[in-house]
Amino acid sequence: MARGMRKGLTSYGDQEFSLFLRKVFIKAMGYSDDALERPIVGITNTYSDFNPCHGNVPDLIEAAKRGVMLAGGMPMVFPTITIHESFAYPTSMFLRNLMAMDTEEMIRTQPMDSVIVIGGCDKTLPAQIMAAASANLPAIVLPVGPMVVGHHRGEVLGACTDCRRMWGGHRAGDIDGDEIEIINARLAPSVGTCMVMGTASTMACITEAMGLSLPYTAAVPATHAERRRLAEATGRRAAEMAVSDTPRPSALITEDSIHNALVILQSIGGSTNGVVHLAAIAGRAGIKFDLEMLDKVGRDVPVLVNLKPSGQHYMEHFHHAGGLPRLMRELRDLLRLNAPVVGGGTIGDVIERAEEVPNQDVIRPRDKPLKAQGAIAVLRGNLAPRGAVIKQSAASKELMVHTGRAVVFDSVQDMTERVDSPDLDVKADDVLVLRNAGPKGAPGMPEAGYLPIPKKLARAGVKDMVRMSDARMSGTAFGTIVLHITPESAVGGPLALVKNGDMIRLDVPNRSVELLVDAAELERRAKVLPAAKAGPKRGYAKLFQDTVLQADQGCDFDFLIEDPRAT
Ligand code: FES
Repeated sequence: MARGMRKGLTSYGDQEFSLFLRKVFIKAMGYSDDALERPIVGITNTYSDFNPCHGNVPDLIEAAKRGVMLAGGMPMVFPTITIHESFAYPTSMFLRNLMAMDTEEMIRTQPMDSVIVIGGCDKTLPAQIMAAASANLPAIVLPVGPMVVGHHRGEVLGACTDCRRMWGGHRAGDIDGDEIEIINARLAPSVGTCMVMGTASTMACITEAMGLSLPYTAAVPATHAERRRLAEATGRRAAEMAVSDTPRPSALITEDSIHNALVILQSIGGSTNGVVHLAAIAGRAGIKFDLEMLDKVGRDVPVLVNLKPSGQHYMEHFHHAGGLPRLMRELRDLLRLNAPVVGGGTIGDVIERAEEVPNQDVIRPRDKPLKAQGAIAVLRGNLAPRGAVIKQSAASKELMVHTGRAVVFDSVQDMTERVDSPDLDVKADDVLVLRNAGPKGAPGMPEAGYLPIPKKLARAGVKDMVRMSDARMSGTAFGTIVLHITPESAVGGPLALVKNGDMIRLDVPNRSVELLVDAAELERRAKVLPAAKAGPKRGYAKLFQDTVLQADQGCDFDFLIEDPRAT
């Protein structure tokens, strides 16, 4: 098989000429023949002025290139789409599959023998892993790492659990306009990803647990020297992989590694977004992903990591406490220890070398968990026939079994316009319902599931209410919030049938969410539902609308999930 510069020659009808021409152009960059004969390691560049979470990517690329060259390889950096949570309209999730397609095709089309994907901000690692799984070239992931923490008036702060908490305080009138501006500059004090156990940290932990990145890459802060050394080590390993042509993602993304990812997701108090992304990654690798598996694992796995939003600390503290290898040691009996890792050996070997840190309270022992059960529970019922999720570790205990009157918002726009209206008929024990916020309905399944507490209730001291939707929620958020209701309302899911004043019962211990309206009435309502709105007529928006799958299938596009190993 052709390697290095000889791979995937452009079609001119004369292979020798194609190689000649390729070398003509690449020599314009000053490369020698010696350099061009080396195994090639592609490195994705996801730096952008619009993506501050990736602000250290140029440094990581530099260190990774050094590692590649020290091992005798030839690094070649190429750009791909990059996505930041706060700079993506209508929502970053709308673009995840576009980034996955871009990354996959750039890996396929350019001559490289292995690839390093560098990402971190929420949707980027999932997109890159989905791409790597489909391209199935030897690939190694290098997360950008979390931010360091901020401080305000003696309090430790972090993006973005504290962004929400502080903003909530401002809405309730406890923090004035001047102070919230000062806080605004202190919540994200460095480049890197959100330093709580949000989606970025969740995906970095899952990536390491699946053996797709080197040990410790999930939690070392973005700005630490150790992060650069890990980048160098990643480069070295990628050069070895370019020579050996192994391991390929298909050897690493397996039922065992998906199981390990679920155990870690539950034990870290991970983001609900991790569920959608794992389903998509599994789909790319041709592995059946079952929400029941997630729930079953969650019943056995306690939350052990004491990080916000479920606990107290931040990612840098997790690193100082021994990081993911130390956590996995605590969960050894629940993990599939023979799962291989990209650095060589197995996850069991990584656990053997885990560092023991005395007197730390970030990684709890099994007999002193933060929560007795895993972070995420899967709910079913007449309101969610194909499932819904709740982050029980970040929910209010007193609301875990609750019956309340529905207060319905028909869209994100409707919610924005009415939720703070003094005329809104709402009480603290009502259930706020948002619909048309799913994969097709919004579109893109935005993180609108964290419905704000109506201002008049927030000002009266209400901190949490039962809220439910077909949307997602930021992993940094907290509250008794049912998400990913499937099927979504825009495709006729039962959420479309709820009316103001209907009673809804949430019962997390029994894993159910029920609309307390009799079946005959629901049938009547279904018959008079308005026809679905016409979708977009062109471009990516049309592709998205026509092909996006529901949350339980990872919101991937239907034409991308075939098993690459079957062809
Ligand atoms: Fe990038 Fe939170 S906004 S990780």
